[in-house]
Amino acid sequence: MERAMPKDKTLFFCKECGTEVSKWQGQCPGCHAWNTLVEAPAGQAAKLATKAVSESRKRAAANTGLKKKPVTIRDVETAADARQSVGMEEFDRVLGGGIVPGSLILVGGDPGIGKSTLLLQTCRMLSGKGIRTLYVSGEESEKQIKLRADRIGEFEDGMLLFSETSMSSILEAVDEVSPSVLVVDSIQTVYEESIDAAPGSVSQVREITGTLLQLAKSRNITVFIVGHVTKEGNVAGPRMLEHMVDIVLYFEGDKTAMYRMLRGVKNRFGSTNEVGVFEMREKGLVEVPNPSEYLMAGRLEDEAGSVVVCTMEGSRAFLIEVQALVCRSSFPVPRRTAVGSDYNRVNLLMAVLEKRIGLTLGDCDAYVNVAGGMRITEPAIDLALVAALISSHTGRAFDPKMVFFGEVGLVGEVRAVSQAERRIAEAVKTGYTTIIMPESNRIAIEKAGGINLGGARLVGVKHIRELSQMNRE
Ligand code: TYD
Ligand code: MG
Repeated sequence: MERAMPKDKTLFFCKECGTEVSKWQGQCPGCHAWNTLVEAPAGQAAKLATKAVSESRKRAAANTGLKKKPVTIRDVETAADARQSVGMEEFDRVLGGGIVPGSLILVGGDPGIGKSTLLLQTCRMLSGKGIRTLYVSGEESEKQIKLRADRIGEFEDGMLLFSETSMSSILEAVDEVSPSVLVVDSIQTVYEESIDAAPGSVSQVREITGTLLQLAKSRNITVFIVGHVTKEGNVAGPRMLEHMVDIVLYFEGDKTAMYRMLRGVKNRFGSTNEVGVFEMREKGLVEVPNPSEYLMAGRLEDEAGSVVVCTMEGSRAFLIEVQALVCRSSFPVPRRTAVGSDYNRVNLLMAVLEKRIGLTLGDCDAYVNVAGGMRITEPAIDLALVAALISSHTGRAFDPKMVFFGEVGLVGEVRAVSQAERRIAEAVKTGYTTIIMPESNRIAIEKAGGINLGGARLVGVKHIRELSQMNRE
């Protein structure tokens, strides 16, 4: 039976996140923003909260769907040949082979990571090819952008700058100059006058994105949106922005390390398993076509406690140095730290080492570090962590031309990991000669007919005991 609701009952909903509450409060219980609750008739609060997005979707649909008729799949023309290279191979790869005209691309990342630099360079490359680009910045003045641009290089006349935050002025500018590529830096600074919320709030971001979506689809303009990532790791709070755009890319990296990684999170025109690697230099971002060599630069060979792991980022393999320092503790409770790998995992592996091969680590401090500021979360790093810990504890280095990968279980067994062939290929390509890996992976490769090793050899291990033996030899 339906419960009758009094006609005049009202609810309160948050302008920022849409949370509904029955009583007014100063702070929204959903997103903890202050003074964002507004009153609305019951049953309409949710409607009001999602109105903006449904409206902009409707508008976009009306503009894109010129002929609404079912077609056979063979008749659908693909845009593959229409892809436009952005002039940077690393960027093109993440985009799935270049930009598809009319796509909406979100580039997210922490402040200061290099998003503006990346897009300014992209605009420079594109305008250099005669493509009209408009770079709208709500964060920096034209002078500031010019200062940055001067470091990057010469710019063509086809590249236009506009320092503006009002959406209607931006639309006017687009009308006037009709660019093929538009960059909006950043979505959090642009606002629509008709929306009663601060720039960067959910309703503003949603409305602006909706308008940009419509612009992209109706006029075939490629739109890049820059979004700062909040502490929670979301672009502008909710993930709804990601649903509205065609491509979501995250630009990340350790700010203290010089390398930057552009990662595809969503791509309606290609694979998301791609990463592009860049280095931040004096003159802007430089592509790093061979990250393994780059990340291994500066490694001291023949040092105890240093080993090399082959890890995967999407479909790309990287060789990275893993270091461990194990020493006698002078603290009542031994200290342990893990940089670039999971702290609990390191503790667990140390317990496995102690229990399964009798390594006395209980009264030792242990510091583990993944060099180059990379963060490895996949379990394939286990074997390298174990090898580094053993090597530091015994003071004996492993052969510097060894690469390790494999997951380690609680009884010390070495378990298979994914994409073993790719990892091996990367190690061989970079000049490593011995690959220490799970025996089950090695057998699988052998059964499948083997792979080209170019003189390198595969050593399958079943238990971490074998590693400790290898270290003694
Ligand atoms: P920026 O593109 O402004 O970051 P975001 O737009 O993501 O906030 O990049 C900022 C950092 O990059 C800044 O700390 C300075 C550095 N940088 C260089 O090291 N070299 C350069 O040539 C440029 C343009 C920036
Ligand atoms: Mg910026």
